[in-house]
Amino acid sequence: MAKVHILDHPLIQHKISLIRDKNTGSKDFRELVEEVAMLMAYEVTRDFPLLEIEVETPVATMKAKQIAGRKVGLIPILRAGLGMVDGMLKLIPTAKVGHIGLYRDPETLKPVEYYCKLPTDVQERELIVIDPMLATGGSAAAAITFLKERGAKNIKLMCLIAAPEGIQVVKSAHDDVDIFVAAVDSHLNEQGYIIPGLGDAGDRLFGTK
Ligand code: PRP
Ligand code: URA
Repeated sequence: MAKVHILDHPLIQHKISLIRDKNTGSKDFRELVEEVAMLMAYEVTRDFPLLEIEVETPVATMKAKQIAGRKVGLIPILRAGLGMVDGMLKLIPTAKVGHIGLYRDPETLKPVEYYCKLPTDVQERELIVIDPMLATGGSAAAAITFLKERGAKNIKLMCLIAAPEGIQVVKSAHDDVDIFVAAVDSHLNEQGYIIPGLGDAGDRLFGTK
């Protein structure tokens, strides 16, 4: 049964408020998205198993902990997911990065795939799908289906802001995927935008439009 984790640490909430502000320009928006992704990575990796190793400090030998060699794959959904990659790599520097290109058709709001390049051993990795926005849930659900079709078994989804509708869609389609979000907003408008949300994440990150 999938769990929804709301990561509402004060630092995350503060930065999400700045990200939402329409007066925040692309440079600050990019930096804040990266920072929030890094803070969220801390919680998303909380269940990583540890093993015991021996470490020699300058004064003694001790039993210490080390992450038990987990192979991680970060899967940003293009474009906006790219903004979260560097923040996560700061905490998980050995992760491999696979890209899935999807855009939402503005008429149907259905995801259209245009690119995919994944690590060859994707089925052995613990995958974290990343995208700032979980709106209708169509893009995230399609990306996860795509990964499962390629043998992936261990998948988490991490988004900054979600609509209740999107959470429901992903939960119904993928009951085995835990969802990590910084905020759950009120609803979607008729154009499929999250209200209050932050507007168009891709455009704000890359200064388009
Ligand atoms: C945005 C966002 C998600 C998607 C969410 O991408 O980054 O991928 O919309 O919407 P959904 O939950 O209704 O599918 P968009 O399609 O605007 O593409 P972009 O990142 O290239 O701007
Ligand atoms: N994609 C965005 O970038 N923003 C939304 O509010 C919904 C989908």
